[in-house]
Formats: sequence, structure tokens, C-alpha cells
Amino acid sequence: MSLLEVENLKVYYPIRGGILGQVHNYVKAVDGISFSIEDGKTLGLVGESGSGKSTTGKAVIGLAKITAGQIRYQGEDITNYVGKNRSPYRRGVQMIFQDAYSSLNPKKRVIDIVAEPIRNFEHLTSKQERKRVEELLDIVGLAPENVLKYPHEFSGGQRQRIGIARALALRPKLIIADEPVSALDLSVQAQVLNFMKDIQQHFNLAFLFISHDLGVVEHMCSDIAIMHKGRFVEVGSKNQIYHQPLHIYTKRLIAAIPNKNPSMREEMQRVRERVAMEYSLKRNQYYTKENRVYDLKKISDNHYVALP
Ligand SMILES: Nc1ncnc2c1ncn2[C@@H]1O[C@H](COP(=O)(O)OP(=O)(O)O)[C@@H](O)[C@H]1O
Ligand SMILES: [Mg+2]
Repeated sequence: MSLLEVENLKVYYPIRGGILGQVHNYVKAVDGISFSIEDGKTLGLVGESGSGKSTTGKAVIGLAKITAGQIRYQGEDITNYVGKNRSPYRRGVQMIFQDAYSSLNPKKRVIDIVAEPIRNFEHLTSKQERKRVEELLDIVGLAPENVLKYPHEFSGGQRQRIGIARALALRPKLIIADEPVSALDLSVQAQVLNFMKDIQQHFNLAFLFISHDLGVVEHMCSDIAIMHKGRFVEVGSKNQIYHQPLHIYTKRLIAAIPNKNPSMREEMQRVRERVAMEYSLKRNQYYTKENRVYDLKKISDNHYVALP
């Protein structure tokens, strides 16, 4: 039994128009995706901006209304409870966001930010609460005297650590991390990613790790789903996705990763040109007449590609 199983998830946003504001169409932000996450493991969700990654994360945690599909947590169908407070699911699944500054209330002190989820679930004395928050700050590498400070007194990387401390407050089993380091400088990115891996090991945490950046995902994830137009074009192990990509969209994403090794630059340029050529000749074969991504076909163990 997986920790989380998502089956045929759809999230459609209505587009309203006219004087009466009637619904005349839908944005199919997420259009029939399925995946599962095991205890302590990380699934990477990758795609360009607008492909439906954040909507997927929000649907799983109850911040976006599910149009269709099912979510199971520890084997139990919780589709109708995802947004409900105080359920075991709300305790077990937490989210961290790209922009820690806008997701942390600027008018609140760190103690109130980090303790907020605890207050929803437990009744601690203020002394007990303070101790818990100080422990959480210690876990994320911040000194206890920071409890009385405000978000603006911290750097971007430190704020992301405060967001992580809050997410950890209820000892969750799964953290949905939506572009958690995309707003940070490169040097700070590596620190926060390494730190996330440490706490993952320590708490046997699972991550749904959302990113547009394949370089970051490679560092974090054993399994990767590539998303495009609200659908999955390819799902596989890190190795399959990086070294045997089969969908033209995945190939393009991989070819576009900037190469850090200067001696590989010419080689990468040739790969890029070859993929661009293949794309212009064969793109249509990878999408339906309606320009939709096909359903996934099993290619080998763990490797699925959207092909006719
Ligand atoms: N609240 C919303 N109302 C209407 N459309 C939305 C809303 N949120 C996202 N969308 C649309 O859904 C699509 C997927 O968005 P999103 O999930 O944010 O993608 P990503 O995180 O991959 O950039 C986009 O076309 C976006 O404009
Ligand atoms: Mg997003």
C-alpha cells in the first residue's frame, strides 16, 4: 500500500463570460493524471510554467477543488475530506511554497507562524508550545532566540527554513514542496535542498517535489513525472528520464538543461539541434489531433510514456 495514491485526477477551472457571467468553457489545468508516492520517497513533478504542477499540489492538499478522480491516503479514500481541517490527512500532509515571504504572514512572529498548525490540533501550554517551536527551529538550523522575530528579519533561505519548520510541526508523512528553492540564489538552493534531504531521512518523510528545473529535480528525486498540458507525458526512474527519454517533450526538456561542464558544450549543442530537428519533423506523432497528450503506455518496469 502506497502512502498516497492519486487516480485520474482532474481539476477544471471554469471560464466565465458575458454579462451574466455564465460558464462558457474550462481551463483543464489538470486533466487525468495518476501517481503514487511511497513512504520516505520523493516523486518529482516537472514541467514548464502553466503545465498544471501547482494545481496538482493544491488539489492534493485541498486548496483546489477536485473536478474528478480519487485520492487515497494510507489506503483510504479521502477525496471528499482533503480540505477538511483536523482530519488525520490534514495532519499527515503539509505544503511548502516557492515564495516563503508571501506564504508567511509578515505581521506575525516566528513563534505564531510555526505554532499555528500545532494550535489547530493540540492544546499546549504556552511554555510547552515555546519549547516545541524552539525544537523545530533547531531542526531547521535556526537559533531559539529567533522565535520572537518577524519574517522580514530573515534572508530568503532562512525564511524557507521557517516555512519548513511550520510544515514539520505536526510530524507529517508527506510534504508537498512547490518550487521550494526557485526563488533562492543558486548557492542557497543547494543548502536548502541538502537540508531537505537530511530531514527526509531523519523523519522518513515523503515529498511531492514540484519544479520546472530538471537540474534541481535530479538532485532530489528517484522517480519523476513529466507534466504537459495538465497530463503526464512520461513517468520513470531518474535514470530513465535523464538517459532514455522517449517522449519528444521530455527530450526537449532534457536537451535544454544548461551544461555546467564546458567540455560538454559542443556535444550538448549537437544534441539540442538533433532534438529540435526531431521535434519539427515528428511532433504531431506525439499528440492527438486535438493536440492532447495521449494516455500513458507501459514501456518497461516503472517507465510509462504517452504514445498513441
Ligand atoms: N485559480 C485559477 N483559475 C483559473 N485558472 C487557473 C487557476 N490556477 C491556475 N490556472 C490555470 O491552470 C493552468 C495550470 O496552472 P498551474 O497549475 O499554476 O501551472 P504550473 O504550476 O505548472 O505553472 C494554467 O493555464 C493556469 O493559468
Ligand atoms: Mg506553479
